[in-house]
Amino acid sequence: MKEKMEKEKKKNKKSISTTSFEAESGRFPLFNQIMDNKEANVYIQCQNMALQALGFTEHAFAHVQVVAARTRYILETLGEDDHLIDLALTAARLHDIGNIVNRVDHSQSGAIMAFQILNKLSVPAEDIAEIICAIGNHDENNGVPVSRISAALILADKSDVRRSRVQNPDPETFDIHDHVNYSVTKSEIKINKEHSGIKLKLHIDTRYGEIGDYFNIFMDRMLLCKRAANFLGLQFHLIINETPLM
Ligand SMILES: [Fe+2]
Ligand SMILES: [Fe+2]
Repeated sequence: MKEKMEKEKKKNKKSISTTSFEAESGRFPLFNQIMDNKEANVYIQCQNMALQALGFTEHAFAHVQVVAARTRYILETLGEDDHLIDLALTAARLHDIGNIVNRVDHSQSGAIMAFQILNKLSVPAEDIAEIICAIGNHDENNGVPVSRISAALILADKSDVRRSRVQNPDPETFDIHDHVNYSVTKSEIKINKEHSGIKLKLHIDTRYGEIGDYFNIFMDRMLLCKRAANFLGLQFHLIINETPLM
């Protein structure tokens, strides 16, 4: 496992070190501390290996960086302060670590693991509460947008569908999740100027996946996105290949 971790580390080094977050350590001190936290980084790597063994898509550093960037975009655009964004970024970084325990209920186990890490760093209880509440509510099976951080995390996480998340090197053995992720060549979220709506715009290359398949596997996620957007006072719109579908 150690060897595999080293390989993963190298592969992910670029995406970790080239983020704009590092230059802003003053703005997001807790997030920067967590990015360098050895324990947290081991759990992020190992949970992805466990998911890869189960045939899941990528949930490692690239995923948590996309989720962090989108969480920040949403909350910054809506005018939240740096402290709240710092907590949200920390939640984004740690949100999937519970997969190392088991995929089932990984949001709850991850929240407890995050509590241990943050408590050891003497993070104030009010801040830990915000973070573990968002982590514990990010999954479509039992998560509910109960705070602004949790709502932003849900939208950021569920919108990360992209070709590079496919970890299965053999297209012959792709499952429906691999097909759909592989088919997505572009995915972006955008809040309108009036701050009344958020759009998830996807481009699907239909040679690799059907739009119907996207709905088939992501309907629950899109309904949770709608609830999360509503919590933030936004309408949720899903646009695939320029066609509004929600
Ligand atoms: Fe998750
Ligand atoms: Fe995730």
